Amino acid sequence: MSLPDESARRAAWSAYWATGGLHSCVGSFEGNYGGAIGGFWREVFSRLPATPLRALDLATGNGAIPLMLWEQRGQGGALTVDAVDLAQLAPKWHRPDQHAAIRFHAGVAMEALPFDDASFDLVTSQYGFEYARRDAALAEALRVLKPGGTLALVMHHAGSVLVQVGRAELSHQEHLLAGEGLLACAEAVIPWFAQARRGVDPGQFPMARGARAAYNAAIERLLARIGAGAAPDLLVEARDWTHQLLASVGTDPAPALEALRRYREAMVAAGLRTAELVSHALDEAQAQALVASIRHTRPGADVRCEPLSQAQGLLGWGLVLRAG
Ligand SMILES: C[S@@+](CC[C@H](N)C(=O)[O-])C[C@H]1O[C@@H](n2cnc3c(N)ncnc32)[C@H](O)[C@@H]1O
Repeated sequence: MSLPDESARRAAWSAYWATGGLHSCVGSFEGNYGGAIGGFWREVFSRLPATPLRALDLATGNGAIPLMLWEQRGQGGALTVDAVDLAQLAPKWHRPDQHAAIRFHAGVAMEALPFDDASFDLVTSQYGFEYARRDAALAEALRVLKPGGTLALVMHHAGSVLVQVGRAELSHQEHLLAGEGLLACAEAVIPWFAQARRGVDPGQFPMARGARAAYNAAIERLLARIGAGAAPDLLVEARDWTHQLLASVGTDPAPALEALRRYREAMVAAGLRTAELVSHALDEAQAQALVASIRHTRPGADVRCEPLSQAQGLLGWGLVLRAG
C-alpha cells in the first residue's frame, strides 16, 4: 500500500482518535502502561528531578503519555503538559476542570512547534516521533528542550512483532478489499438476499447463482488464509462480521450496503495507519543515525537507544537523552 498524502493521514488518524481509544495499539497492549513500554516510561519519569516540571508530548494521540505522567507527577500543581498532534483528538479521560495543567494542541506538526526555545524539562513521544520528517522533528524537539532536559522516545522497531503483524494485516486487508475479495462478493449478494426476503427465489436468476458461487469461493479462500495462520484475527473478524451482515439483510438492501461501505472505509483507514507504522519503523542503522544526530547537537549528553522487548517479542526502541 503506498503512503498517502498529509491530509489523508491526518483524516485517518483524526477518525481513529474520534473513536476514543487511549492509544494506537489497543489490540496489542492491555490498558495503557503494561509490560516493557510501561516499564520504560516509569523508569524515565522516576529519574526526573522533583522540581516543577514542564513537559511536551509529541504526536500525542489521545494522550496516553500525558495521562501516565499526570498520574505519577500531577499531584500538587507541579506539572504542566503540552500535548501536540497533527490530527484532531478526543481524549475521553481529559476533564478541563481536573486536568487544567494538560493542554492539547490538535493540528500541530512536530516539525514546526509553536513554543519558545528551551521551554521544556521533558519532551516525550510514544510511537509518534518516527512518523514525522525526522531531521526537522529532532531539530524542533531539541530546540524547545531546556539544556539539561530529558528527551524520551518509544519508536517502532523494524524487527518488532508489531511490524510483523502489521505486514500480515496489510496483506489480509488487500485480500479482503480486492475485486474478488470477501467484501466485493458480499456486496454482490446483498441485493439477492433482499429479494429472497421479499419472497422471490434468487435461484431462478443466473446472476444470483453466480454471485452466490463467487461469495462461497471467497469464503473458501478466506478460510484457507485463516488456516495458514499468519495473524489471522482480522480475517476471522471480517468473516464473522460479514456472516452477521448477510443474516441481517431485510427486504431493503440499502442499510446492509451502507454498513458494508462504512466497514470497507474503516478498513482502508486502518490499512493506511498500518502502512505508516510499517514504513516508519526504524532499523538498527536508522536508530543509530538518530543517536548520532542527537550527540552532534548536544555534545556531552548521555544518549541511549535500546530495543524494548517482553515475552511476545520485540516491541520497539527506547531512546533517552539526559544531560551528561
Ligand atoms: C501511532 S500514533 C501514536 C499516538 C500516541 N503517542 C500513542 O502512544 O498512542 C501516531 C500519531 O502521530 C501523529 N503524527 C504523525 N505525523 C505527525 C507530525 N508530523 N506531527 C505531529 N503528529 C504527527 C498522528 O496523527 C498519530 O496521532
